[in-house]
Amino acid sequence: NTDVRESMYLVSEFAKTYFHDTLLNSEEGKAIGYSYFKERGFTNETIKKFELGYSPEAWDAFTKEALGKGYKLEFLESTGLTIPRDDRPFDRFKSRVMFPIQSMSGRVLGFGGRILTNDKKAAKYLNSPESEIYHKSKVLYGIFQAKQSIAKLNNCYLVEGYTDVIQFNQSGIENVVASSGTALTPDQIRLVNRLTKNITVLFDGDAAGLRASIRGIDLILEEGMNVKVCTFPDGEDPDSFAKKTSYDDLVLYLENNAKDFIQFKASLLMNEAKNDPIKKADLIRDMVVSISKIPDRIQREIYIQECSRIMDISEQVLVSTLAQLVQKDV
Ligand code: CTP
Ligand code: MN
Ligand code: MN
Ligand code: MN
Ligand code: MN
Repeated sequence: NTDVRESMYLVSEFAKTYFHDTLLNSEEGKAIGYSYFKERGFTNETIKKFELGYSPEAWDAFTKEALGKGYKLEFLESTGLTIPRDDRPFDRFKSRVMFPIQSMSGRVLGFGGRILTNDKKAAKYLNSPESEIYHKSKVLYGIFQAKQSIAKLNNCYLVEGYTDVIQFNQSGIENVVASSGTALTPDQIRLVNRLTKNITVLFDGDAAGLRASIRGIDLILEEGMNVKVCTFPDGEDPDSFAKKTSYDDLVLYLENNAKDFIQFKASLLMNEAKNDPIKKADLIRDMVVSISKIPDRIQREIYIQECSRIMDISEQVLVSTLAQLVQKDV
């Protein structure tokens, strides 16, 4: 229902402004939220560009303010900003720094809120719940700020987290968006595909997740996009790496370390298989599955040749395995 959504957008826009003002102008916001961002190395310009905010500790500071301004409880609750409770509804986000999540056209759809302590028991990030206006699987954090740069440079960097997007922007690289910790979805890929065919996926340097993460990349191949991947040194993510690297060195690092995805995966799998023939057979099949997702036949053929070389297996075997997977067109 359009009227409902419109009201939810208005409440979300108000919340964005409230959290941002609270960060910059309230005693609590300045002492806790603003100084947190300063410690992370964010400049005032960056804080303004992403309209970062702070939500106070009090039970219902935001909810009270919004109700006082005439926003209806119904929409405060349907956006998830307020948690229902008979006696006294309360703020979902308390004592958190706030990252507004915007659509391609700049509408505020939801929020991510980060705790300020290193309490391992509490969830580090709390996000808006799914709602009539916020569909996690259809948004990419940073797309509003990135879209022009993505189109102009004809490439998009895809990172994992909010702060990766922000730190890259501050470093001077603006064509960057985040999947916000979830596995990439076809809808998210299509958002990028409207702007460029070229995507470079940047992984946090925590090797544990790598094998699982690269599985999701087949979806990008399926959309006919060109995919490169780049990893960071152990323990670093794009944020921490960019923070301590000059613009020139960061660009150089990305140029030197971004590898074609198929080649990257082939080498990674070969390393894994070592000299175990059974394992190798499995991984070769895995590899051919990825190649089978590429819509362009000529590209598939070139990759078959590459993989034959990298994985030291005959092209015929790869071709016949591929033929089983791609019935049409081969
Ligand atoms: N995430 C989340 N909920 C969590 C942990 C992570 O929604 N409990 C999402 C956030 O969007 C986060 C992204 O996954 O930005 C990547 O997670 P991680 O690498 O752990 O966080 P960072 O972005 O590096 O956050 P920070 O640097 O603030 O620790
Ligand atoms: Mn909907
Ligand atoms: Mn991570
Ligand atoms: Mn990270
Ligand atoms: Mn980080």
